[in-house]
Amino acid sequence: MQDNSTIKSEFLDFGFGSEINKGITNAGFKVPSPIQKSAIPIIIEGRDLVAQANTGTGKTAAFGLPSMDKIANQKGTGLLVITPTRELASQVADELYNLGKYAGIRTATVYGGSSYTRQISLIEKGAQVVVATPGRLKDLLSGNKLRDFSPKIVVLDEADEMLDMGFLEDIKDIFSYLPKDRQTILCSATMPKPIRILADKILKHPETVSIVDKNDATNKDIHQSYYVIEERERTDALVRLIDHNNPKKAIIFCRMKIEVDRLADTLISKGYSAKGLHGDMDQRARDEVIKNFRNSKINILVATDVAARGLDVKDVSHVINYHIPFDPESYVHRVGRTGRAGQKGEAITLIAPMEFKELLRIQKTMGAPISLESIPSSFDLKEKELISLANEISKAKIKGEASKIISSLGIEIDSSEIALKAISLLLSKHSATGPEHIGFSQKEAKKLLERFQNSSQRSSNSRGKRNGRSSGRSNDRNRRNRSGGSRSRRK
Ligand SMILES: Nc1ncnc2c1ncn2[C@@H]1O[C@H](COP(=O)(O)OP(=O)(O)OP(=O)(O)O)[C@@H](O)[C@H]1O
Ligand SMILES: [Mg+2]
Repeated sequence: MQDNSTIKSEFLDFGFGSEINKGITNAGFKVPSPIQKSAIPIIIEGRDLVAQANTGTGKTAAFGLPSMDKIANQKGTGLLVITPTRELASQVADELYNLGKYAGIRTATVYGGSSYTRQISLIEKGAQVVVATPGRLKDLLSGNKLRDFSPKIVVLDEADEMLDMGFLEDIKDIFSYLPKDRQTILCSATMPKPIRILADKILKHPETVSIVDKNDATNKDIHQSYYVIEERERTDALVRLIDHNNPKKAIIFCRMKIEVDRLADTLISKGYSAKGLHGDMDQRARDEVIKNFRNSKINILVATDVAARGLDVKDVSHVINYHIPFDPESYVHRVGRTGRAGQKGEAITLIAPMEFKELLRIQKTMGAPISLESIPSSFDLKEKELISLANEISKAKIKGEASKIISSLGIEIDSSEIALKAISLLLSKHSATGPEHIGFSQKEAKKLLERFQNSSQRSSNSRGKRNGRSSGRSNDRNRRNRSGGSRSRRK
């Protein structure tokens, strides 16, 4: 007999088969999250769906559970999930496998950088769920490499990214090989209007569920702050903030791959347990880095936006934007790597005055409540370290060897002197590095921001007068051009 005693009736009410319920119990899920409550009945009904909900709120299980329940006893691939990155494809395949394994569900992942033969053979042997990135999937389909591949349910995870410029053509091609009578589901934490309009053309009479606050697209469990610095202070600022926050696990986002390599090297040379991740690394190195970050062999991941979407790593306490992203959506997804499944998280963004424009755009379009803070001085850090050292000493358990050392020191040296020497030894391993003051104080930063807002208001007024209309359109075009790098597939 299966044991459903720990899952609440709300999950049982969906009427899934007992094997799927066993998967839910085994995952430790007690009650469905809001997106699961709303989306699952619609998917069970067989309707097309656009599902928008905050980062880390269980969208994978929201589409995975009802889809797998439907296809569990069917032959061949019944569910196809398409994701933008290889890391996300692996993660989604793992989560679906864990939820569906008692129902006999087998999964296959399909992405570039690894063997075609193995991927094809897993599908041919009857994987009911295929999770793929678009490039490799398109190759397999257009090369006629998959026999009788006709999934009845197709999910675009991170749908706004999948339907954006970088992927849209591949997705259209892929859809041309899929059954017309399929059920299609789009999921993401962000759904910009042009993408929603496009979605309506691709889907059949879709239902829409949005569990995102209209005035704040970020997850409420994430505390968000920004620090204004001079460009040349960026790395010192980062190091100071890492030392001050002492993150359990942190992801540091950079705009460029070369910056990822440089920053990871710098942090490693300073003794941090860090590694870089970006799209130019070979697949084995990418897998190794993610594995080590998941199992806490490293606690700082320096990455491009390749790690921005969907990645669900336990205990990520901090996300740090080394540079603010150009796209507001990218901000929401990056910070969403923390504060997941009800946990609290910290998101920190470093901003040079020339990046105020991006900050204001993110605050305006996403409603993100990002508060201005100033970087602790080396003095503040030292004070904090003293307090935490005192705390550690008072809690420390006395080891047998400690009294041996005391006796070996002889009687000439008294116990308070020994204590002072021992603490000094510990302190020498704890010292704050870098300049005493880094970045602007809150007062200075506020003034700089006000000056920036006033001057951009003046220039937009005078442009308005010259053109006789607002220049919003051209701004948007500039943004797109500049953001080409971060939106492109090569992360
Ligand atoms: N009902 C539930 N109860 C408890 N935990 C859950 C539940 N559903 C999902 N989770 C867990 O919550 C975490 C986040 O889920 P998931 O990765 O699906 O989020 P998401 O909404 O897809 O986020 P993102 O927008 O970042 O992709 C996962 O670790 C998942 O196992
Ligand atoms: Mg997700």
